[in-house]
Amino acid sequence: MDHFQYKNGILHAENVSLERIAAEVATPVYCYSTATLERHFKVFSGAFDYADTLICFAVKANSNLAVLKTLGRAGAGADVVSEGELRRALAADIPPERIVFSGVGKTAAEMDFAMEAGIHQFNVESETELRTLNGVAGSKAVKAPVSLRINPDIDAKTHEKISTGKAENKFGIPWSRAMEAYRLAASLPHIDVVGVDVHIGSQLTELAPFRSAFERVVELVKSLRAAGHSIQRIDLGGGLGIPYTEGGEVPPLPAAYGAMIVEVVGNLGCQLILEPGRLIAGNAGILLTRILYIKEGENRRFAILDAAMNDLMRPAVYDAYHGILPVAEPKPDSPREEYDFVGPVCETADLFAKSRPAPPLQEGDLIAIKSAGAYGAVMSSTYNTRLLVPETLVKGDQYSVIRPRQNYDILLGLDKIPSWLE
Ligand code: LLP
Repeated sequence: MDHFQYKNGILHAENVSLERIAAEVATPVYCYSTATLERHFKVFSGAFDYADTLICFAVKANSNLAVLKTLGRAGAGADVVSEGELRRALAADIPPERIVFSGVGKTAAEMDFAMEAGIHQFNVESETELRTLNGVAGSKAVKAPVSLRINPDIDAKTHEKISTGKAENKFGIPWSRAMEAYRLAASLPHIDVVGVDVHIGSQLTELAPFRSAFERVVELVKSLRAAGHSIQRIDLGGGLGIPYTEGGEVPPLPAAYGAMIVEVVGNLGCQLILEPGRLIAGNAGILLTRILYIKEGENRRFAILDAAMNDLMRPAVYDAYHGILPVAEPKPDSPREEYDFVGPVCETADLFAKSRPAPPLQEGDLIAIKSAGAYGAVMSSTYNTRLLVPETLVKGDQYSVIRPRQNYDILLGLDKIPSWLE
């Protein structure tokens, strides 16, 4: 459930009218709901009837400091994949002992920064990364807490570009080399092996692939313990999907996911770490945009929005479906017409929705693109020299601009003219 509802004929985020935000901040603009973020976090964490559970929000999904601070106060830790994300989590007052560092390409400098910060664990994805981390920790005469990310070779049955647990993917240590990698880890003086990590993909809409992967983890933990390794934590990654399409995909509820996990891994006596991103933030945000023009094509009608693929890349990159709502509530009996919702960027891929039924729309109408709270603003760019899109956060009947719109001085000021052109 989210807190984007029509009230008195106007779409609201909690008690704030989206017309008001559009009038005061202008469009395009992201709008997040505090109550929805908090509710999703509570529902997710409540799904684990298991004492030692750490929920690390995947910062890559939405890294705005205000969003991180909201979730941190609700009890979330953070899953980060770069020094930048780690700095964000720390700046949002998420305690380092609740932060895990994932990713296939951590640099020695990033490892150094994370060691100084005192994070909970490194999720290490290769033998060479293990050796680098051992060197960094050695230079400080400390031990780095490590879980090895194992690639279980399981098909997550999701979009191929967000599938990570197949042998052909770059992620994790191949299942067949897992025992050997743990032997290596145990032999390195500055590595403290603490657990096992797995993450098989994103936007999963079935439990079965998760279950298969987690059963492999249990098998591995047992073999590792039998070989003398002390395994105290298991990190099962993120990936639980959300409903994007009205009447479309029906992902498992967090309660079913949590119950399955506790059933499969519950008697190992490990700390349980989860890294949800999309589930927490996806339906807690919308992209608010205005129709610039209605253009009649040869055989179709285009609604040209002031938001574009640079502001929300998901449809262009993953052919992702996002719901589209007019901010003015359509009359129940108003006819439906088909529109192609497109942006101003000079690419055919700049298409949010094709042949989407909508009530008759006019130039100037406000539109909310739904489910944009995860992998929206974080993936935005300035392509076509468009200003980075601003973000707002609603709480009850108030809202705040949590990232102002960039301006042209800042954007053009990033470029430097070499001396020979001056
Ligand atoms: N943990 C790790 C190690 C990950 O790589 C990811 C996502 C997550 C957790 C969080 O997964 P989630 O719970 O959000 O599914 N840009 C794509 C999604 C990329 C996901 C990358 N990894 C999209 O817009 O669909």
